[in-house]
This record gives sequence, C-alpha cells and structure tokens, in this order.
Amino acid sequence: MRLFIALLALACAASSSAESHWCYEIQAKEPNSICQGPDLWPGSCQNKNYQSPIDIDTDEAEVDINLKPFTFTGYDQKKTWLVLNDKHSVKILLSDGIYIAGGDLPARYKAEQLHLHWSQEENMGSEHSIDGQHFAMEMHIVHRKETSSADAENSEDKIAVLAFMVEVGNQVNEGFQPLVEALSSISKPNTNTTMEESSLWDMLPKKEKLVHYFRYLGSLTTPECDETVIWTVFQDPIKLHKDQFLEFSKELYYDQEQKLNMKDNVRPLQQLGDRQVFKSRAPGQLPSLPLMALVVPTLTCLVVSFLQ
Ligand SMILES: *[C@@H]1O[C@H](CO)[C@@H](O)[C@H](O)[C@H]1NC(C)=O
Ligand SMILES: [Zn+2]
Repeated sequence: MRLFIALLALACAASSSAESHWCYEIQAKEPNSICQGPDLWPGSCQNKNYQSPIDIDTDEAEVDINLKPFTFTGYDQKKTWLVLNDKHSVKILLSDGIYIAGGDLPARYKAEQLHLHWSQEENMGSEHSIDGQHFAMEMHIVHRKETSSADAENSEDKIAVLAFMVEVGNQVNEGFQPLVEALSSISKPNTNTTMEESSLWDMLPKKEKLVHYFRYLGSLTTPECDETVIWTVFQDPIKLHKDQFLEFSKELYYDQEQKLNMKDNVRPLQQLGDRQVFKSRAPGQLPSLPLMALVVPTLTCLVVSFLQ
C-alpha cells in the first residue's frame, strides 16, 4: 500500500511538472492544452520591471557616443554546427572561441548559442518591434560574460544578446541555406542534426552595417525571464527569401505528433517603464557639442575673412 501511494505521488509529481511546462500563446490556445502560456510563465516573468521584449521608439532613443562598433572574434569560424529543435525554437550550439567585446560592454562575452523567433506572417514574428513595426523573424545570438569570480553570477549584465531583425524579400540568402536545409531533419522536438559548414558572418548583415544599433537593459524572453541581459538590437535587418522564411513554420513542430507547426514563438511586448533606450550615433548625424564648439568659430572666422 505504501509503495502504491509512493508511486501515485511520483506519477502526480511527473504529471504536474508536465502541466506546469511553459509554452507560447499559440500552444496554450490549443484544445486540451495543459501548458502555461505567457500570462502564467514562472520566475521573474511576472511583476518585474525590466522585462523584454519591448517596442523601440527610435525618436525617444537617446544617442550614446560610447556605443561604438563591436569587436567580433571567431564569427568567421567555418564549422558544421549542431542544430536542434528544443521544443520552443531552432537553436545552433556554438563552439569555443567565439566572442564579442566593445560596443560599451563591460567585459568580453563568449557566444553560446543562436536561435530564432518567427511567425508565418511577415509582420508578426519578431519579439522586439521598432516604432511599432514587427518583422518576419528575430535572431538572437546569446553570449555570457567572462568572469573569474563567482559573485558576478547574479549580475544584471551576465548575458549579452545580439538581436537581428529578419525581413522577407525575393532574393535567396545563400548564407542561411545550411540552416534552412537542416530544418527538415529536426521536425520533432528534442532532435538534432549537423548543418553544412558555415560561419556566423555568413548569416549576418555586412559588418559595416552593424555600427547602427539600439541598447537597453532587459531580460531573457523565455522563463525564468531573468533580468540579466544587455540587449543590442541592430537596425539593419537580415534578408531572407520568402520560401526560406516559410520553411521554418513548415518543417518544424512543437510536438512529437507533428500536429502544431512551430511558429509565433514570440513573447508579447513588455512595458518599458522608467528605462531609457539608447542608440549608437549614425555617421552623418550632427557632431557632438564639443566638436561644434570648435567648428562654429572656425567657420565664422572663415566667413568673416572671406567678407573682408
Ligand atoms: C543529439 O541527438 C543524439 C541522438 O539522438 C543525442 O544522443 C544527443 O544527446 C543529442 N545532442 C544534443 C546536444 O541534444
Ligand atoms: Zn530569443
């Protein structure tokens, strides 16, 4: 009898942990769904002040001259990456030797993984929006702060995520083909495969374009939504062919039975609250005040001497 009760307790524990598993709204809405949609996500996801994603109002973003270009290390490494369907997204596991620094980050950050968020619609699949506009997809490259001391474990800048918007067009993005071609091998959750050889640069916009970005402090966009993320949202989007974009929602599934296509894996927008969003200074913008202080008298002198 005791054994029976113990087994029953075990079974209950197992089923309640399955019940309490988090999921996206589209999954929570399914008939007979028992998963927890975004309104019920655990941990810091509820009632916190520095959550992500947010809408970025470009007029409200303040120029920060410290937001200089990043230094990318190992982004050119060509590898046959392991890519997996982790039940919530498609994720590429990155190997050692890939880092970012600069961009006003407080340390060097080591790349861990890359994943995406998407919809079947071209204006719904990004987590962040820019001036109220969502994009077709959003790609996140997740990096962890390099630190020797354990006390930094809970710091607010433990993670740096580079976020790229994805726009749909009519040109094939060859750099994305290795990932797109791998999707049909990982339709079911918790499966993995290796991609044809490629580098991170193959998947990104041209390096020169990566000087334009937005910066704010926020959270992970999946449970437990830890408020430990330095967000960098690049202005220039990645461009995919429509067919490449549609492969994600067509080939990938949330469930083992392949009933629910993986799409709309997007957390709803969160309040900005009292946070400030910053932006890097674009070339061609007015020089900063100290420089103006030099330029204006010089020009005045020139004009005056010309008039004499
Ligand atoms: C990839 O799949 C294999 C076999 O299905 C499994 O043994 C392995 O643990 C998986 N790797 C990862 C990182 O999920
Ligand atoms: Zn993400």
